[in-house]
Amino acid sequence: MSSPPTPPVDRVRAELRSARRESTPDADWASFEARFDAEFPRLQSLFSSIYGPGSDGELLQVVLDAAASWQDRPADLKAVDASRAMAPEWFSSHRMLGGVCYVDLYAGSLVGLRDRIPYFRDLGLTYLHLMPLFRAPEENSDGGYAVSSYREVDPSLGTMDELADLTRELRESGIALVVDFIFNHTSDEHEWARKARAGDPDYQDFYWIYPDREMPDAYERTVREIFPDDHPGSFVQLDDGRWVWTTFHSFQWDLDYSNPRVFRAMAGEMLYLANQGVDIVRMDAVAFIWKQLGTSCENLPEAHLLLQAFNAVCRLAAPSLLFKSEAIVHPDEVVQYIDRGECQLSYNPLQMALIWNSLATREVSLLAQALERRHDLPEGTAWVNYVRSHDDIGWTFSDEDAAELGIDGFDHRRFLNAFFVDRFPGSFARGVPFQDNPRTGDCRISGTTASLAGLEADDDAGVARILLAHSVILSTGGIPLLYLGDEVGQLNDYSYLADPAKAGDSRWVGRPAYPADAYAHRDDPGTDAGAVFTGLRRLIEVRRQTPEFAGGRLAPFHTHNPHVLGYQRPGRLGDQPDSRASTVVVLANFADTQQDVDAATLSGLPETALDLIGGGRAHLRAGVTIEPHGVRWYRL
Ligand code: GLC
Ligand code: GLC
Repeated sequence: MSSPPTPPVDRVRAELRSARRESTPDADWASFEARFDAEFPRLQSLFSSIYGPGSDGELLQVVLDAAASWQDRPADLKAVDASRAMAPEWFSSHRMLGGVCYVDLYAGSLVGLRDRIPYFRDLGLTYLHLMPLFRAPEENSDGGYAVSSYREVDPSLGTMDELADLTRELRESGIALVVDFIFNHTSDEHEWARKARAGDPDYQDFYWIYPDREMPDAYERTVREIFPDDHPGSFVQLDDGRWVWTTFHSFQWDLDYSNPRVFRAMAGEMLYLANQGVDIVRMDAVAFIWKQLGTSCENLPEAHLLLQAFNAVCRLAAPSLLFKSEAIVHPDEVVQYIDRGECQLSYNPLQMALIWNSLATREVSLLAQALERRHDLPEGTAWVNYVRSHDDIGWTFSDEDAAELGIDGFDHRRFLNAFFVDRFPGSFARGVPFQDNPRTGDCRISGTTASLAGLEADDDAGVARILLAHSVILSTGGIPLLYLGDEVGQLNDYSYLADPAKAGDSRWVGRPAYPADAYAHRDDPGTDAGAVFTGLRRLIEVRRQTPEFAGGRLAPFHTHNPHVLGYQRPGRLGDQPDSRASTVVVLANFADTQQDVDAATLSGLPETALDLIGGGRAHLRAGVTIEPHGVRWYRL
């Protein structure tokens, strides 16, 4: 007996047509069908690779959900879809600038956040990532990363209607909204988890729940511990003795994507979010979404297929929605998620970690190597470059890359951990260890930019280091992302230690409340806050006027000085494809002393160049001298 034939695309189309509402205008429906024709074959083949031939019924439901969601989509968002379709690389502009904050910590509520919009405009933000703002357990919520309902805003922050209003207001100010799609896990208070706990078989199949230790033991032989301070291994025990998979905190239950109903349910939550006006979803913890016995359960091929399938669903129902990948893993794996048909954007954890590495070592070899060989991305995609996030800093460089430079990865990570938690003589950094795991030697670092860069230790070079770090994310291409408050030099906040729900998670040290005092001094360069802010503002301003910084193209520039990072940004002088070609050369001194880039090294460049940051023309014939932590952007 052969299995029944796959329902042909025509049958699905017929089902769709009968689901068309009378109120849907012809043009709207025609555009949906056009996208259906273009995308369905891809979605169908992804679905059958993941779920096998018997999954057509579930696929049909997914497509019907997409059709319903498109018909629900507000007209103003359909207009955004249409205009972004005309300019699909809108996010590659050199005018893009991101900011990230917690709604409660930064502004109290969604309404409070609206009052910050004038500041965001003034700063030049075009992208705002609001940390998770959905209903979550009151006490333990991992900063909102344990979601109890994807369709409700945390009542202490506001309502879904206020979120939708906010997206509109942001859009009018030219700011795209980014929110998390936390799809690897739900909180243990989510309705699905409650039902699973109560023994409802349909919902037990949404999670990885086992009656005893047999399977947990088997899986734990090969998976790494992510939050060992919270619980050993990857499973926690329920009151009734069963075990449930929790990669992160014990109250974050991993969803079981081998069940197609989980895919359908989460695709529905994603489209609901998209219809609130979200422009970009940050795909949380992408590396972990597929599990397979005997593997690390990270970065498996099916994780990519799932993301591509989610992406295909978006193309049907919310075509302008973009995905940003949060894969904080080995650099070889990070890039695997970046593709027009998968995640168009991605955090750049390697660049982030290596900026800190260069600040600590005062040497640039690893960072220069990463820019040379790990920076290029496929067309239609971009990095999100950042100095630090709400999370820890992990040293995710490749040991093989480091070995080529004579650096031993294991020893070097130990050095970096010691340096950044101030266990190294003379360190300027005041970080806090995160998930220090003596068994594996693993450890990561928490802290604000300013505390890690020296401001908390009253190091004279603190301000200059903060500017230097940001100058890299502002000039390497892609979207630079500021952790809001860092632009006024906010310091570590140790008050988390007094809160039992936070004390065990040192990442809270880097998540201070809105630093009102620092903001009040931001225009006074005589203060640290003002020196950081005015310096950063200048860099942002110059970048906005430097079209060469659009896109992601970067070419190496060898400075022949181990302390000075160099690269070139070949581009154009204007926004038009026929604008004149032009190149900016970047030099950045990571040493505490002044450094030369000698005449021979610069001999291939023109005699003079425009000094974009300092103003005026620089003479390059005799070589250049750069002050400690100084940066040059030269237009040739
Ligand atoms: C992501 C978030 C992190 C959270 C984890 C689990 O890595 O950035 O803050 O703890 O996912 O959701
Ligand atoms: C998240 C966590 C971080 C962890 C990483 C693992 O980013 O916040 O602590 O190292 O996931 O991929």
